[in-house]
Amino acid sequence: MRRAVVIGTGAHLPERVMTNHDFPAHLETNDEWIQTRTGITQRHIAAENETTSDLATAAGMQAIKNAGISADSIDLVVLATTTPDETMPSTATKVQHRLGITRGAAFDVNAACSGFVYAMAVANNFIKAGAARRVIVIGAETFSRILDWNDRGTCILFGDGAAAVILEAQENTNDKMGGRGILHSGIYSDGQYTALLNTTGGVSSTKTAGVLTMVGKDIFRHAVSKMPEAVTQGMKEINLPVSAIDWLVPHQANMRILASVAQKLEIPEEKVISTVSGHANTSAASIPLALHLGSTDGRIKQGQLIACPALGAGLTWGATILRW
Ligand code: UT7
Repeated sequence: MRRAVVIGTGAHLPERVMTNHDFPAHLETNDEWIQTRTGITQRHIAAENETTSDLATAAGMQAIKNAGISADSIDLVVLATTTPDETMPSTATKVQHRLGITRGAAFDVNAACSGFVYAMAVANNFIKAGAARRVIVIGAETFSRILDWNDRGTCILFGDGAAAVILEAQENTNDKMGGRGILHSGIYSDGQYTALLNTTGGVSSTKTAGVLTMVGKDIFRHAVSKMPEAVTQGMKEINLPVSAIDWLVPHQANMRILASVAQKLEIPEEKVISTVSGHANTSAASIPLALHLGSTDGRIKQGQLIACPALGAGLTWGATILRW
């Protein structure tokens, strides 16, 4: 059976760190509120001239190096972002060129905070269909550009960053343990909820990018029900119990969401990888950033079962389940 196996990861965060203490007094927020309600202590913010493609290229280069492959062996670049450099061309094509890839195809996927899970599903299906052998999946965002810095309900929640994984088609016969690679990539959406999390503008509606608005409580409610559901459904489909999961690596929006998702799945806290304190919510970059961290600090080991659920604007949601 052909599977999409992760053979390398990379990450890049902007140099500038903004702590909870750095918000101006007129915002009427404070470190204690932010930490208690979200678990966030700081976020990285892109420099004025630093774009999503800059972050994505740096993360991509590191992933290629860590995988020990040549850039030109990559057949497909799938870049998950809601904050592209420009409306066109896709940020993926810019990154493809900057990574030194001169063949194959590149495109963006916009599924907001579920972007990485969506991009993994696309890549997985290309690989399973035999249409690509090596795919780089990148989650990259500069959400700082679309925040209303006067809205304390949203601007404290997000940060910038990028991370990448290289997927390679491998023939896998070890079916006893499910084999290495992506075992399940479930994606879902329900457009009746667009108003819960969106921007106030866009190319075709206002000819601007707009700023992010969110009904936080409702998004919270959907996140803590749909993310565990997506994992439960995925585990059912691959015929493994939820207790077989070694690491839960969810989208990193709010520590309370992570805790609730883990609790609903009866996964102990020690098996949850969290970056929300140091990076805040980096949207499509958050899961690959956490995967990169967990695998480079030695927690995630080859052969372990990882579940990555996400939920974002759309609403979109889903889960990637893979054996590392
Ligand atoms: O990736 C997907 C996208 N996002 C998410 O998943 C985020 C989902 N939502 C959340 O994480 C939470 O709903 C928030 C962190 C956004 C808000 O937490 P909450 O516990 O739902 O707080 P709340 O909105 O009910 O606000 C409680 C109080 C309010 O004051 P009153 O009405 O009780 O007087 C807010 O005005 O806290 C106030 N508040 C703040 N106070 C200090 C809201 N934001 C702040 C703030 N600092 N930054």
